[in-house]
Amino acid sequence: MTDVFSARLSRHEDELDWLFMELYNDRWWLNALKHTMGQAYEERSKELKRLDSAREADPDWYRRGNMFGMTMYTDLFAGDLKALAGKLSYLKEQKLTYLHLMPLLKMPHPHNDGGYAVESFEEVDPALGTNEDLAALTAKLRKAGISLCLDVVMNHTADTHEWAMRAKAGDSTYQAYYHCFEDRTIPDQYERTMPQVFPNTAPGNFTWNEEMHQWVLTTFHPYQWDLNYRNPAVFVEMVKSILHLANLGVEVLRIDAVPYIWKELGTSCRNLPQVHTIVRMLRMVLECVCPAVILKGEVVMAPRELAAYYGTPEKPECHMLYNVSVMVNLWSALASRDVRLLKAQLDALNSLPEHCWFVNYLRCHDDIGWGLDEDEEHRLGIDPQLHKEYLYHFYEGKFPGSWAKGELYNYDPATGDARSCGTAASLCGVEKALEEKDGQALQLALRRDLLLHSVMAFLKGFPMMNCGDEIGQLNGWDYKQDAALAEDSRNLHRSKFDWTKAKRRSIPGTLQNTLWQGLAELRQMRADCCFAPDASVTTWGADNTAVLVLVRKCDEQTMVALFNFSEQEQQFRVDSPFLLGLPDVVSLAPYEAKIV
Ligand code: GLC
Repeated sequence: MTDVFSARLSRHEDELDWLFMELYNDRWWLNALKHTMGQAYEERSKELKRLDSAREADPDWYRRGNMFGMTMYTDLFAGDLKALAGKLSYLKEQKLTYLHLMPLLKMPHPHNDGGYAVESFEEVDPALGTNEDLAALTAKLRKAGISLCLDVVMNHTADTHEWAMRAKAGDSTYQAYYHCFEDRTIPDQYERTMPQVFPNTAPGNFTWNEEMHQWVLTTFHPYQWDLNYRNPAVFVEMVKSILHLANLGVEVLRIDAVPYIWKELGTSCRNLPQVHTIVRMLRMVLECVCPAVILKGEVVMAPRELAAYYGTPEKPECHMLYNVSVMVNLWSALASRDVRLLKAQLDALNSLPEHCWFVNYLRCHDDIGWGLDEDEEHRLGIDPQLHKEYLYHFYEGKFPGSWAKGELYNYDPATGDARSCGTAASLCGVEKALEEKDGQALQLALRRDLLLHSVMAFLKGFPMMNCGDEIGQLNGWDYKQDAALAEDSRNLHRSKFDWTKAKRRSIPGTLQNTLWQGLAELRQMRADCCFAPDASVTTWGADNTAVLVLVRKCDEQTMVALFNFSEQEQQFRVDSPFLLGLPDVVSLAPYEAKIV
């Protein structure tokens, strides 16, 4: 069997050696990396090796129309991993094929940035279970045809991670795992060009550590210490932990905040070329040791920067990326009843190479950051700042006529920047309609919600829901009563799964049933051959700015969908005999829209 590993390694070895030596020029650590890989291969179970072979023979497995995903917190959904394993029927009922569990590795309590402050990359947090529970869960999921995705928080550790504790105790080996500075000279130089991620909740990029008497680079929260990837030990240690997760049966690795992992004075410290070297090496490591495992990049960047994270077809990096810009544009189009920016964005993404693949999502555990394409806004005569202010006020329900209920996140008075929080249902108007007992408003809200889900399901890639969206879960305002959560408004959409409301999914006439059925129809739609991995998706025309028209094509068939982003019936004029002649124009528009 080791022959299999050797054969795979020999396919990649030249490039791996070259990239590693270019970055680190350290043969000892290169050998350590290969040793780590070989050992992980030896330890990989027979069952997982069988999966590796199956997927090597079927590399398109994650690009099929049946892919349907969900993301959730273990504790909020079920309590712990064992309990979650007991609730798989709920996931199977939705025919899910992909489950992203929010970070579940050992973390400090109560401040852990939703699990993104990791204390050990190789141990499940005791509050959620054990490594054995995780392995049992992945096996059960695999049997049910569901791939488990977990985060690899690459950029930082908790300041209570063993490496950080040793650094604090004065161990210089471990201080070299981080970016530590005796005075402000270099930190000040960095601050000149490094933007802030949390200007409001965690200002600045450095934190003073009294025990070490040094400044530590902390891009995110003060208790999240950035790892120093200039140190080959850090890269090799992370590879070891990643392979450990893969051997527990994790099939998709979400590489968290990956654009930030390489730092360079005089730059924004984002998207630097060395980041791509590291991601490319990671991809090769997986292809050698556990080719069933794929990489999902968390790259919250404009399409320009995004494309690079796919690498090239010959030297690929991530298998898939979050479709951040389309997510933001969907919400923008909904509030403005104008699809022009969204269409431009979709057209821009269509110029990416064929192997690009997206995780399409409306909501996740994070905020909506209003990163729209400013050049395109200028071209359309939209003032980017005013439009952004419109959007965040609209979605906090403060703009006249807004149907939404939500909250701001990291409002920065200096720049006028803010992001938005809230569940899909509350942002679409369900919460307000229920409060006001307005039946008609509720119907409109549900239509909006399904409209957005329909677009997502139609796009290139696969749709991933935030758990609770399928039953229209509302904002959880009670987070404000919990001192550990109150400061972070992202907790508005991170509340306990409502099992009582979920029961209503089978009762016709309930809002839960409407959404549940709507999503089931979308899954059914995706069984069509137009959703084959190599099908194309393009936009059509621009006759009516309230209607998005998408065309899906595979060898034998074409599907056209109209999405009406306004509350009024719309007509979409086309003079194309091709479009008019199609038997199968599906109006996925929850509001009427027709071709005339
Ligand atoms: C990612 C996570 C976010 C977290 C950040 C820092 O962006 O999605 O929730 O705060 O990384 O780890």
